[in-house]
Amino acid sequence: MTQQTNPSRDPNRVVIFDTTLRDGEQSPGCSMNLEEKLRIALVLEEMGVDIIEAGFPIASPGDFEAVHEIAKVIKDSTVCGLARATRGDIERCAEAVRPAERKRIHTFLSTSALHMKYKLQMEPEAVHQAIIDSVTMARNLCDDVEWSPEDGSRTDHDFLCRVVESAIKAGASTINIPDTVGYAVPHEFGALIAMLMNRVPNIDKAVISVHCHNDLGLAVANSLAAVKAGARQIECTINGLGERAGNCAMEEVVMALRTRADDMPFTNGIRTENIMKASRLVSAVTGFVVQPNKAIVGANAFAHESGIHQDGVLKNAQTYEIMTPESVGLNQSTLVLGKHSGRHAFREKLKELGYELGDNAFQDTFRRFKDLADKKKEVYNEDIVALVDDEVVRTNDRIQVVSLEVLCGTVHRPPKAELELEIDGIRRNCKATGDGPVDAVFNCVKELVPHTARLLLYQVSAVTQGTDAQAEVTVRLEEKGKSVNGQSADTDTIVASAKAYVNALNKLLVKRERTAPSALSA
Ligand code: KIV
Ligand code: ZN
Repeated sequence: MTQQTNPSRDPNRVVIFDTTLRDGEQSPGCSMNLEEKLRIALVLEEMGVDIIEAGFPIASPGDFEAVHEIAKVIKDSTVCGLARATRGDIERCAEAVRPAERKRIHTFLSTSALHMKYKLQMEPEAVHQAIIDSVTMARNLCDDVEWSPEDGSRTDHDFLCRVVESAIKAGASTINIPDTVGYAVPHEFGALIAMLMNRVPNIDKAVISVHCHNDLGLAVANSLAAVKAGARQIECTINGLGERAGNCAMEEVVMALRTRADDMPFTNGIRTENIMKASRLVSAVTGFVVQPNKAIVGANAFAHESGIHQDGVLKNAQTYEIMTPESVGLNQSTLVLGKHSGRHAFREKLKELGYELGDNAFQDTFRRFKDLADKKKEVYNEDIVALVDDEVVRTNDRIQVVSLEVLCGTVHRPPKAELELEIDGIRRNCKATGDGPVDAVFNCVKELVPHTARLLLYQVSAVTQGTDAQAEVTVRLEEKGKSVNGQSADTDTIVASAKAYVNALNKLLVKRERTAPSALSA
């Protein structure tokens, strides 16, 4: 029974479909490894996401493995895989999602005149038949099938109604209308959904979903207009990650629904208090820093700078705050622990922040917390999160930074670095100069671990405020068309830079090993 025809289903419940791991991963320069995808999937499940689109299984063995592994561990959310309208794609997708308790195949085919003529080079009748065949095939392999007419918002209405009706007849229980190129505007997109609701005779047998891209900055507004017109599934990503300008941002659309329930009386299953945790994790894993003034999750989203605003907020928070920081999981930066805090307090704090570490990881993180507390006057929640993320990121790395010394300043000598690495258990060191201290350190790494990878991104941001804040560094490397992000955090920016570079190299090694086992040198 479909969700829409199921009498026990709340007709005002909006299904949240997260595609951070699929469309989000299609962001230029964004790639996640298996372990990172698993961590994100678990956080999405914990926050109450209904459907997790875990990847595009036919795209690569790595994509298949990620969907398959996520399907094994996720219990509460439906695990979905994407497939084009071909037998190979659909069978591979069915195989990838097979272990999931709740599984879905999402298959799609372009339907706009432009896409059919130039991209598919198919006549509309052939496209229509391919839709019936592919949905039927998917439905024979999986009870839950979603179908999307790619470039749906630019598709001829008569043709759209016809193919949607056929897809439902063939067994699709969710019809997703994508605004693939982010061209729609809210009143028009809402009208498109209303048109489908009115004209497709069997539309009550399916849930209408929307998938909006943000090329004109309208993805959230279009999604909300669609829900008002009858759509009951929103496809979105954490931090609005996705192709080009990204997708509808989950944190924005969900908080809009929650904050303006007076105007939009719809429910959903998202525990909004988990939003910041998910946002930080996705940002740390991808290296896509959230802009400070980004709605909901930007560093300034709840900051009041002007005296008049501060005064108003102190008198009554509602004067300038339409939602509370706590509702998105942003607790006031509280002093958490000091250098005298013991293991018990540290373990309790980790639990409060949602982490459960194994014994070895716990001991290592505790030791690093003590080091940090020695260096830093105040240790905040954000510091602990950066510390744990750093620990998880670097576990199992074959190359580790042992020690680093750097000489730089206004003296008329090139900056110098001396670095010691442990590579597969063997210690090696080297000295190098460079245009700046970071360049000198990176030259050392290149000498100790020869490689041909290109540096695509070097980015530094502060975890908290103050000159003793930890620096969070992201390094993106590219080799043979594949890119990886390395991260690290440390109170010393140069040390964090060295560790982030080395972390990226470790990820490249894993990528290389997956294709062909190789030695450390390129
Ligand atoms: O943007 C798009 O059209 C898509 C489809 C695969 C749903 O991502
Ligand atoms: Zn998309």
